[in-house]
Amino acid sequence: MNKKLTSSMLCAALAVGTVFGSAMTASAADLPILGAGIYSSTDNFNSYIGKAITGASEGVFEVNVDDGQLDQSTQLNQIDTALAKGAVAIAVSVVDTTSAPTIIQKCQDAGDIPVIFFNKEITDKDVVNSYENLYQVTSTGGDYGAAIEGEIIVNYWNENPEMDKNGDGKLQLINLMGDPGHTASQPRSEHVKSTIEDAGIEIELLEEDTGMWDTTKAKEKMDAWVSKYGDEIECVVCANDAMALGALTSIEAAGFNTEGKESEQYIPVVGIDALPEALEKIESGELIGSVLQDAQTQGKVIVAIANNLYQGKEPLDGLDFEFDTDGSKAVRVPYSAITAENVDEAAATYAE
Ligand code: BGC
Ligand code: CA
Repeated sequence: MNKKLTSSMLCAALAVGTVFGSAMTASAADLPILGAGIYSSTDNFNSYIGKAITGASEGVFEVNVDDGQLDQSTQLNQIDTALAKGAVAIAVSVVDTTSAPTIIQKCQDAGDIPVIFFNKEITDKDVVNSYENLYQVTSTGGDYGAAIEGEIIVNYWNENPEMDKNGDGKLQLINLMGDPGHTASQPRSEHVKSTIEDAGIEIELLEEDTGMWDTTKAKEKMDAWVSKYGDEIECVVCANDAMALGALTSIEAAGFNTEGKESEQYIPVVGIDALPEALEKIESGELIGSVLQDAQTQGKVIVAIANNLYQGKEPLDGLDFEFDTDGSKAVRVPYSAITAENVDEAAATYAE
């Protein structure tokens, strides 16, 4: 009885809230709709881009960033719904890159609505060139930040001779890769290793496997490896921070890294993205570094392109970016190295 009362009161309160909400945001209802979605809210980095899109849309677009829940048909339904509501642009990180033609078709059918693909780059040029109103917002270079990640490791090796624990002149390395279906995954894995080797450091690859961009999966893999190799591991390179944080949890449970660089046993771990939750670990020395992939700027650029197009302006009007030189309408936001010395630079991008 009591429970019932409480829940009906809650319903009433929510109803009032909704009424007030819509009354207060009457002007928001007049804003054009941006149909936005990320492939999964379980992906930390994508969630930050989603937040950046929401932030940048304030007063510009009515937006609700959908969660594709790792399911392409769910995401296609969300796009249908947004287009049916009259979205003036669609911005998505696709669940599956091969579904790009279907999404393009939907936008075309809805009246040549612009589509902005972000994060998961569509690399099939035939697909990219098939639609005049297709834009992409990702990050720089075919290496997707991995050359910078490799340089962090090379610098660390040069500055910390104790990194070569067994003194054999080689780097005993573990490589945690991203989702093989993602455009950045293979290039990151290759470029991080070639950058290390090009600097004259020979790699002995202890293990290499995918952690699917995911903290829990990375932790599970690392649990097995840390018990197999223990202090023989001289470096763990991760294709993103979510996995670096998972690997770190695992090695800390095994007694490594808990006191930062002062730890009795230490395994250098590095990631990509410079997520806020990784920055603390870089500051404390539990991670040696990361590569900033600027989610805030990517979100702003996505919204600015959509708004410029809606206003009938040039897509990059007022932005400090240019499209790719190959003629595709792709904006690439640069990466930068983040270590204990400059965590503030990455933190500042999230503070805006
Ligand atoms: C990011 C990863 C993310 C992946 C998913 C990459 O660019 O670095 O953190 O999991 O995109 O799309
Ligand atoms: Ca060694």
